[in-house]
Amino acid sequence: MAFTPDFLDELRSRLTLSEIVGRRVALKRKGREHSGLCPFHNEKTPSFTLNDQKGFFHCFGCGAHGDVVGFVMKSEGLSFPEAIERLAREAGMALPVSSPAERERVQEAASLQDVVEKAALWFQRQLWSTAGAAALEYLRRRGLSDATIRDFRLGFALEEREGLRRALTADNCPETLLATAGLTIQPDDGRAPYDRFRGRVMFPIEDRKGRVIAFGGRILGEGEPKYLNSPETPLFHKGAHLFAFARARPAVHDGARLIVAEGYMDVIALHQAGFKGAVAPLGTALTEDQILLLWRLADEPYLCFDGDNAGMRAATRGAERALPMLKPGKSLRFVSLPAGEDPDSLVKARGPDAFTQVLESALNLSEIIWRLETEGKNLDTPERRASLQAALLKRASLIADPLVQNQYRQEWRDRTWKAFRPALQARQARPVGRRFGERAFPPPPRPIDDKPGAPSGLGERGLLAILLRQPHLIPMVAEELAHLNVADPRHRDLIEALLGWAARPESHAPEATPDGEPEGAADVENTGFEAHLRDFGLEALSRHLLAKVPARLAGEIEAQAEAWREAAAIQGAPLGQEAALQEAMRAYEESPTEENWQRLKALKQQVFDAQTQISRFA
Ligand code: UTP
Ligand code: MN
Repeated sequence: MAFTPDFLDELRSRLTLSEIVGRRVALKRKGREHSGLCPFHNEKTPSFTLNDQKGFFHCFGCGAHGDVVGFVMKSEGLSFPEAIERLAREAGMALPVSSPAERERVQEAASLQDVVEKAALWFQRQLWSTAGAAALEYLRRRGLSDATIRDFRLGFALEEREGLRRALTADNCPETLLATAGLTIQPDDGRAPYDRFRGRVMFPIEDRKGRVIAFGGRILGEGEPKYLNSPETPLFHKGAHLFAFARARPAVHDGARLIVAEGYMDVIALHQAGFKGAVAPLGTALTEDQILLLWRLADEPYLCFDGDNAGMRAATRGAERALPMLKPGKSLRFVSLPAGEDPDSLVKARGPDAFTQVLESALNLSEIIWRLETEGKNLDTPERRASLQAALLKRASLIADPLVQNQYRQEWRDRTWKAFRPALQARQARPVGRRFGERAFPPPPRPIDDKPGAPSGLGERGLLAILLRQPHLIPMVAEELAHLNVADPRHRDLIEALLGWAARPESHAPEATPDGEPEGAADVENTGFEAHLRDFGLEALSRHLLAKVPARLAGEIEAQAEAWREAAAIQGAPLGQEAALQEAMRAYEESPTEENWQRLKALKQQVFDAQTQISRFA
């Protein structure tokens, strides 16, 4: 439905942003601004602000930004027209029905939906009648409770040529609508239409609002096809809907995990076991539309796959489909079930806790792609490794979003660097790729920053001082170090020396752990590092830097390295841009107009581009 600008203006003018937001967020007022804890990411100190005059909200933590409609879309997982509809009701405005043609389409859809709803009721009635005894018994034997069977409105289609057709035409449903709804089939030979679904357990498929629009029908026991689905109709496009979406939506908003299973029975069994955020595609691989639908509910839905080879292939296809669509924060998680199991059989055999455990071992999308490219491959020669790098970069280049693409490039660089570092390889002596589903990928390193001043805004001196103080980091960040943007030529020399150190085997000394490590320059003396610097004539410069900059990085080694890389990335921004960015941020904070927002966005893009330029120098 198209809404006129007048209608939208009127709607916005009748609503107060802080009032709508205030229902979800405890807001504090200061001047024209309200602030509170951002509902779109986890935080302890408020970085979410809104301004009623301007009608915009903005979060400085996660960048969420928009007006009242955007807020409702984002916080409730609604589409634009759905959000408008909700807000219009709230503002006491009638929705416009734009054109006669549109009115007609809406009317036809309504009557078609009536017919499908009547069919659902009829199937339901049959299941609970004597004619449906065997079907009801089948569902109970499969572990569904009567409450679940009722809740999902499961039904039964009689083993008759015209059971449903007779019942619905007697109830004044026009023959043509029955056919359009996919409930009957018109034979070519001119005989009377007959029921599409016969002798099957019926699973109603609902639209996003919970209205029945189609069916899947399962044969009782063995037989072909196992499931028969409604054809495409004006109501039902199987690539655009997800089974149980309307049921999962409120659950996911209340904190349930969004889980994508393969089948109807899986979804129903999961809901019964307490996983109320389960949905499924409708007999096909996930489409782009379905992925977008999922992302409206959750940032990282869990996709379940059988742990066998076919499951691995399906997971790979899912990852490949989603890759170009990735957006900041939006991704998929891949859950590998024990071979031969589906979620239904798993919760039945081993209970909900076992399923939760499997969910918690989900793999990231980037991990799936990495395994796809490395698994079972011999990477012993430079040429083979180069070919791997080329393949990974090609994958990254498919990602449309520049920020995500850049992160993927960085991730591949880090991973190949780590995987092929000779010292590491010799020490760990294990193959690069593990089998899909074999073990959970360890959580990614988190930068930990316990000293004021670190890790951002260190400047080139600070970045180098940290490496002098914590030389075990040098081999880990060598790649970024090589591309560090430094103004002082002596620092360039120092970088050369540090890179030379990274190439020496003793730089990977295993005793270089962060815990119990002596303060100050002690590591320098202990490892031969100092002698190395002396050879380069850089001892004095090193001591000078160490004395000037007290910062050091805390946490696990991986986290230290990550924090250093982040700080280096900021350093990569050309001089002056950082200041301009701060200034734009302040301007926007003071008055969050669309204009100020655009300026801030443009600057962020520039800084990003500059960083990309630097990293492409490789
Ligand atoms: P599965 O074959 O994995 O079935 O199909 P299932 O869901 O585990 O069903 P049960 O446990 O044997 O009853 C997964 C999904 O693929 C679609 C259906 O949507 C099904 O839920 N499908 C499967 C079809 O559309 N047609 C078929 O013939 C088979
Ligand atoms: Mn099954």
